[in-house]
Formats: sequence, C-alpha cells, structure tokens
Amino acid sequence: MHLLENSIRSEELLAKTINIKHRFYASSSEPLKLKDLLAITERNGDHQLIQAYHDHTLGYADNGGSLDLRQEIALLYGANISADNIIVFPGAQTGMTLCAQALLKSGDHAIIITPSYQSLEEGAKLAGCEISRVNLSPDDDWQLNIDAVEAAIKSNTQYIALNDPHNPSGALMSYETKLALIKLAEKHDILIFSDEVYRLLEIDPKDRSPSMAELSTKAIALSTLSKPWGAGGTGIGWVVCQDKSICRKLLKAQHIYAVCFSRAGEIQAMMALRGSDTIIGKNMQIIDDNLKLLEDYFDVNNDLFQWVTPRAGGTGFVKFKGPVTANELAEKLLEQEILVFPPSIFDCDENLSQYFRIGFSRATMPAALDAFKLFIDTQRPLWKKQRVG
Ligand SMILES: Cc1ncc(COP(=O)(O)O)c(C=O)c1O
Repeated sequence: MHLLENSIRSEELLAKTINIKHRFYASSSEPLKLKDLLAITERNGDHQLIQAYHDHTLGYADNGGSLDLRQEIALLYGANISADNIIVFPGAQTGMTLCAQALLKSGDHAIIITPSYQSLEEGAKLAGCEISRVNLSPDDDWQLNIDAVEAAIKSNTQYIALNDPHNPSGALMSYETKLALIKLAEKHDILIFSDEVYRLLEIDPKDRSPSMAELSTKAIALSTLSKPWGAGGTGIGWVVCQDKSICRKLLKAQHIYAVCFSRAGEIQAMMALRGSDTIIGKNMQIIDDNLKLLEDYFDVNNDLFQWVTPRAGGTGFVKFKGPVTANELAEKLLEQEILVFPPSIFDCDENLSQYFRIGFSRATMPAALDAFKLFIDTQRPLWKKQRVG
C-alpha cells in the first residue's frame, strides 16, 4: 500500500480551518507556555535543569532518547519499567506508525479497535497487514467486548491496536477488561499496541489502572507530552515495552526514520514531567470546569443531545438527536466558525452517524460553547418545523 493511498480524513478539514475562531474539537490540553514551564522549574528549585537548557548544544540528542529523559519517563510507570524499557519518538504518531512498520509484515493480520485515531489503523495497513475492525459501541458504554476480539483472531493475527482512554468517547477500559485482553493476547501470542496518550487525565484518579505495558510482556504502550501536559511542541512521545527485544527492533527502525531528536525538546520534556503535579493539576481544573458547563448545557438540552460524561481525556462523543446527521450539523457549525469533529473523521459506521466529537481541555472551550449555544438556539425552531413537516 502506498502511504497516501487512503484519504487522510482530518487533512482537508484542518487545512481549511487553520484560522477558525472556535476549536471545539481540540483534544490536547491547554498549550503550555515556555515562560510558565521555566517558572515552574524555577519554583521547584531545579536550577540544574534550567542551566542545562541554556548550556545544551544543538547537536543530535541520543538515539532512542537521552538516558536522563528516559529515566524521568520511567517514573510514570511501575517498578518493572526502567529507562531501558522506554524508546522516545518525535511525537506519539511517529511511535505508533514506526512500531507497526518495525513489528509487522505483509501477510500479517491486525485487529484494530474502532472508532479510533486514523494512524492506528493506517500504520498497520502500511506495514502490509490485513485488517479487521472490532467496533466499540455506545450501547456497551464503549467497553471492549473480549468475545468480539476473540472471534476476530485468525491464525496470522499479530497485533491488537487500541486506544485507552478512548478518543473520541472518553471511555476508560476497566481493569478486568485489560486483564482479560492480556490473557487472550498471551494465549494466542499476539502483541497489544495500547495507545495511552490520554492516560493521567482520568476525571477521578481512582479510575486509573496500570498501563498495559506494566501488565504484560506482550504489550506496548504509547504516550506523549502533547495531551496531559499540553506540550506537543516539545516533539516528545514515547513507547514503553517490557520486552527488550522489541525495544531493540524499534531502536533499529529509528535509524531509518526518526534518528534526530531535539535536546531542547528533551530538556523541556523533563521540566514538564518534573512539574507534572502543577501542570496536569491546572489542566484537570480546566477539564473539570468545562465538564460542568457541558453537563449543565446538555442536561437542559437533552431533547437535542445525548451526553455521557467522559471518564478520562479531553474528548467526548455527543449524540445529536435532531433531524440532520452529525456530518451535516458539523458542516453548518463550520459556517459559524465552530469546528467539531464529524463522524466521517473516524470513518464511523452508520450506527454512529449522529455522533460528533467535542474537546473540553482548553481554556477557550466556554467561548466555543457559547457560540455553539447561539447557533443551536437559532436552529431549534427550524428543526422543529422540519420534524413537524
Ligand atoms: C488517540 C491519539 N493517539 C495519538 C495521537 C498523536 O499524538 P502526537 O500529537 O503526540 O503525535 C493523538 C493526537 O490527537 C491521539 O488523539
């Protein structure tokens, strides 16, 4: 398959909305400012890191990520994960696609849990895999059906790729389901690729279960500075895996695709990781406040919308009960400079044609919600007429 053979579903929409007023779809946390990051580091008394930032050279950083950064990342996981189990990538997306390239081959079969981030599926297709989708459904609270995964397994299945916490629904996989999936994968000797970029953004921290990579040698977990920390500009994402032979393969693959890191980005990432309590704490406050506004709005307007409060991450999938599809609604919203993600972005089946994704992790969300409310109020009488007619 050629890289550009399949359409890149968000490309056209994002290209034409670069300067749009209301980014009501946005999934990453409030963008972190360098001056705030430096101030947090200063407050933490981490003068050495600030010095390192001023003194670093602009030469190549180490392949696979410098040891000090990998040590810092390892602290996010349990005792069975150390720096040797971490491979740093320039963002999560590169990690996701390169893992598929390095670990899969033509003729393999991969199971993709959908709806999901397009690259999760595209990466496996590009590696030459035959694909089966296993769909999550709002009727099951977006919980993974292990029997459906088992039914999709073939003799050549090598990979199960999923995203948890889940974009777009904001659902969380239960610990029991994680264990059941691991048991299934281990029984059939299949790798689990677990995109966990929204982990650490659980609305109730008690809901957080261990990373898949902590739970099994058959699992690979993916994360990034973009989401909980709002620091995608550092260009730092990573993959975690207990199996060192997999880590070696990924390191080897980086020599073809992604060998050049920015040391500045690495040091900024260390500052962000050491400032996690402050940074993620502030971002969770924005999420909590925004969720209250959304709950109030969708509660009062439940004739038109069905809203299930997300349990983690920065996105939710809203069901629109009006007389047009969610794709049509999103087009109309676009005319008002409000960008939500229509179901077409996720290549959703017909049964999800009324769902659209919103994001609630930005300080700009209340203004986007106000614009959305105004639009809905103007449409409501027309939709009423349409229904009656
Ligand atoms: C589920 C999911 N995985 C991966 C990514 C990519 O992360 P990054 O921007 O760090 O490459 C995104 C970004 O939106 C995402 O939503």
